[in-house]
Amino acid sequence: MDPILTPVSAENWFVMATSKQLESGKTLARELMGLPIVLYRTSEGKVHAMEDRCPHKNVPLSMGKVEGENLRCRYHGWSFSKKGDLAEVPSLGPSEPMPKCKVPSFEVIEKDDWIWIYGTPNVVPGFQPPSYPKDKSYGWFELHNVMDAPIDLVLENGFDCSHTGFTHEGLFRSRPIQFVDALIQDTDSGMQVETLGEKKPKSRGFGDVRVIADSSSEIRHIDAFIAPHTLRVDYWTGPGTHIITFLVATPETAERTRVYTRMAVRYGIWTWIMTHLIHLLTRVVVRQDKAILNAQAETIRRFGKRSFKLVDSDQPTNAFQQVFRRRAERRAGIKTVRYKL
Ligand code: FES
Ligand SMILES: [Fe+2]
Repeated sequence: MDPILTPVSAENWFVMATSKQLESGKTLARELMGLPIVLYRTSEGKVHAMEDRCPHKNVPLSMGKVEGENLRCRYHGWSFSKKGDLAEVPSLGPSEPMPKCKVPSFEVIEKDDWIWIYGTPNVVPGFQPPSYPKDKSYGWFELHNVMDAPIDLVLENGFDCSHTGFTHEGLFRSRPIQFVDALIQDTDSGMQVETLGEKKPKSRGFGDVRVIADSSSEIRHIDAFIAPHTLRVDYWTGPGTHIITFLVATPETAERTRVYTRMAVRYGIWTWIMTHLIHLLTRVVVRQDKAILNAQAETIRRFGKRSFKLVDSDQPTNAFQQVFRRRAERRAGIKTVRYKL
């Protein structure tokens, strides 16, 4: 399996920050597929985004100052409009014309407490980013992480149930003890895996989060890939209980992924306490995943390529990889055919 050179088409919306991460009057430096991008928020609360490079002498504009709708470079004070047009050169000669330059700018939409940008500069796309509003009957929490691993390995981890009893042993599942069936299918938005037949484990004590499940019912569980970069995981652990995870991954480079996770918990009268408990537990689980993913990606880099030996429990991740690649290539207009010449 070869590493992905173009992980996701730039003709998509990407989450670049949570609303809270960008204060008014401030800038925020981010990266999208190797391109430095500056986000800034005006005092009125509007967010703008452009390439993070001053055309004068290439100082990052994220070091600059927000002035009204404009962004002024810290070095010699050139000022740019929200669309990246040069608005002022303070040291311009008396009859000198304004230099011709423009900073590429990006469409921004802030919704559901996430700041999305459209990945192709100077384009107004004909579609909106997806919406994941917060249902008030659930308890909600957020996580934010940077993984030194490619986006497909980060998303693949979400479909990988067979790691949970080892990477998260005693926290989230324990060593395998029961057979389950994974129903893998394509969907309009990508693909999904439904895991059937998982029961609450007997006598596992409090070392396994599945103790919260109802003993009389099966744990229902669906992992869904929503192309190009989102994972939705649903767990139903008993009547009226539901845990949802939205994980939106932004490829900062081919080897680094920023991950915005939003989780919802509904657990009847215990919703508040269970939300806090699952929040604490998920932070540990994500830390464990991050250590594994960083080490896995580093090992692949050192050996120069991936060399995987798959078994049946890897079918869900393998199916995800196929759909991920097919979708990424289709959006990027890439097609590979082999023939004899
Ligand atoms: S480098 Fe930005 S104004 Fe000179
Ligand atoms: Fe994990």
